[in-house]
Formats: sequence, structure tokens, C-alpha cells
Amino acid sequence: MKKIKYSFIIALIILSSCNNNSEKKQMPLEKIKDSITKSDWGTADGKQVYLFTLTNKQGDQVKISNYGGTITSWISTDKKGNRTSIVLGFDSLAGYLAKPPYFGATIGRYGNRIANGKFKIGSAEYTLAQNNGKNALHGGLKGFDKVVWDADAIIDSVPSLTLHYLSKDGEEGYPGNLQVTVKFNFSDENKLTIEYNAETDKPTPVNLTNHSYFNLTGDVSNTILDHELMINADHYTPVDTSLIPTGEIKAVAGSAFDFTRPEKIGARIDQVKGGYDHNFVLNRKDSTLQLEATLSDALSGRKLEVYTTEPGIQFYSGNFLNGNFKTSSGKPINQHAALCLETQHFPDSPNEPLFPSTILKPGQKYHSVTEYKLSLE
Ligand code: GLA
Repeated sequence: MKKIKYSFIIALIILSSCNNNSEKKQMPLEKIKDSITKSDWGTADGKQVYLFTLTNKQGDQVKISNYGGTITSWISTDKKGNRTSIVLGFDSLAGYLAKPPYFGATIGRYGNRIANGKFKIGSAEYTLAQNNGKNALHGGLKGFDKVVWDADAIIDSVPSLTLHYLSKDGEEGYPGNLQVTVKFNFSDENKLTIEYNAETDKPTPVNLTNHSYFNLTGDVSNTILDHELMINADHYTPVDTSLIPTGEIKAVAGSAFDFTRPEKIGARIDQVKGGYDHNFVLNRKDSTLQLEATLSDALSGRKLEVYTTEPGIQFYSGNFLNGNFKTSSGKPINQHAALCLETQHFPDSPNEPLFPSTILKPGQKYHSVTEYKLSLE
């Protein structure tokens, strides 16, 4: 009898602890409803596409789609109280299916160019799609920016979203099955953290980045030529006419590439043929997360700080934007309407033995973190 009573009490304790657990689980779910929402955004490749909205305690919002792992908007308040998005993007999936030049997308398997779409690992030679003249650019014809990722919205202390994608052996010519995870976290301090992880079953080049185009004024009618930029780089990698690094690591001192102190982007852009589209070699000696670039705009009072674990940043001043694409409100996106700061390993590293290696081997873990921190000055 005593035994039965005892097990009855234990059963009650277990039941009540289960109830507690389910209460605990329900609490954050309520919160999630405020801080993260998910809406249907159509279909691509026969898969469901969603738009997730991450809202922090300041009311700022980052919207991310599992189509291309794309940041479609980042709405913040400027110094005059206007709420505008600081990144280029569209309100609907159709805008992205029209293949804009990587607006806000996750780029992979290899960010930036690989010369002639060819590289070797040991004695094995690989051929990629040549989707940029004779070179391979940003993962190929259908890179990570044009696939539908699997998504889990996570409710932690801050709203966060994790995307998964399995890039199959041979996809776009790359060797090995690559399992990729990209996690976006949006903090109450307006810090958007992007964390990339990947594993492979064959040696393969990997260079993941995000291709957000920033215009801190929040209005593409203003170019970014008046934005001030600082990049913590004493060197950059000069390029040939097809934008492939020559292999030289050149000092920026005394040139239009010197952004070691804040400089207006437009001040010396005329000295750079075609505009800035170059990889800056960060001064860092290790791969800890460090502040490496700062972008600021006096008109809006906004400042964007870029922290990364990567050795390079591709500074692209929106040179190829030509008005062909329009914002969802109908404004043409003209040359220099926005700029990119793509944290990365150097372009064409698989063909440049002296550049930091981008080859991921089975058993190794690819890990890279970039943070964009937005504030008002
Ligand atoms: C990167 C490249 C540029 C261009 C853009 C997309 O930034 O470096 O040359 O291809 O992407 O248009």
C-alpha cells in the first residue's frame, strides 16, 4: 500500500513537472509572436518560400527569406525619426526571381570570382560554370542565392533564424556534399550577427558571405558617394580587367584605396577605373571577431560597423547598378545607389597558393562570423 502511495506521489511530481515544462515552452512562444513572424511568400523550385520578420526591442526590423538566405530589408529609425530600410530589397518574391545582382543574398559555395571557372585540388582538376565572362562568380549559375533553404525560426533571448542547405556533390561543378548552416541573430542593440557553419565529405573551396547593398540614407535617390568609409586594411589585392586578383598584395598608402581613416567614397572614386570592386586585406593577424570597417552617413546620422572573423572585405561601390531594377516603390536603382561590404576570403584563392586557403577538408569545420552593428551618431 505504502509502495502504491509512493509511486502515485512520484507520478504526480512527474506530471506537474511536465506541466511546468509546457508552461515554460509556451511563454517564449508568445514572445516569439512579437519578435519573430513568418509569412508565406510563394514557391520556388516547388518548395515553400517564407519571409521571416525579426523585430527587436527598439522596434527595428530585419526581414529574411529562405529564398537565397536573403536579407530583404532592415528597417531602422534615422536621426530625423524616419523609418526606412538601409538595404536594397523587394517586397515580393517576384523581385528576386527576376535575378537582381545578389541583393541581400547569402553567397556560396564560393563568394566572388574563380579565374576561368577552374581550379585544382591536388591533381584533381575541377571546372565550374563560367557565369561572369570566362570566370565563375558567386557560386555559379544557381548559387546559394537562388536556392530555397530549410528554415527554423528560433526563439532565444533575441529573435534568430537558422537556415540549412545541402549543396550536393557536383553542384555547379564543386566537389563534395556540403552541409551549410547560416544563423541570423538580431539583437536589441541593432546588431545583426550572421554565423556560417559548413562541413564537407570531399575537399572543396568554401567562401560564404552576404551580399547586402547598403544605403544608409534609406533612399536610393541619394548615391552612397557621400558616405564615409573606414576599412582596417593597409593592403588590397589589385585585379586584372576581368576583376581577377593579379596575386599582388599592394599597399594602399598614397592611393585611392586608402580607407584606413574615414574617407568619402566619392572623393577619389574617379581614380579607380570602373569604381571600387576590390578585396581589402585586413590588417588582422588572427581570426577573432574584430571591428574591421565603419560606414557612416551624415544625412541620416546612421553608422554601420562591420565586425568579422574573415581576412578580407570586398568593397563594391555598386558600379554595375544601372537603373534596370527598381525598388518596390518604383525608384530606379542607379549606379552607386548602394554599396556592399562582403566579408570573405580573397577572390580566386583556389588558384593563388599564397592567399589564405579556402579549401575545406572532410572532418574540418568551416566557421565564419560577421556582425553588422547599426547606430545613430
Ligand atoms: C560582387 C562582385 C562585383 C559584382 C557584384 C554583383 O561584389 O565583386 O564585381 O559582380 O558582386 O553585381
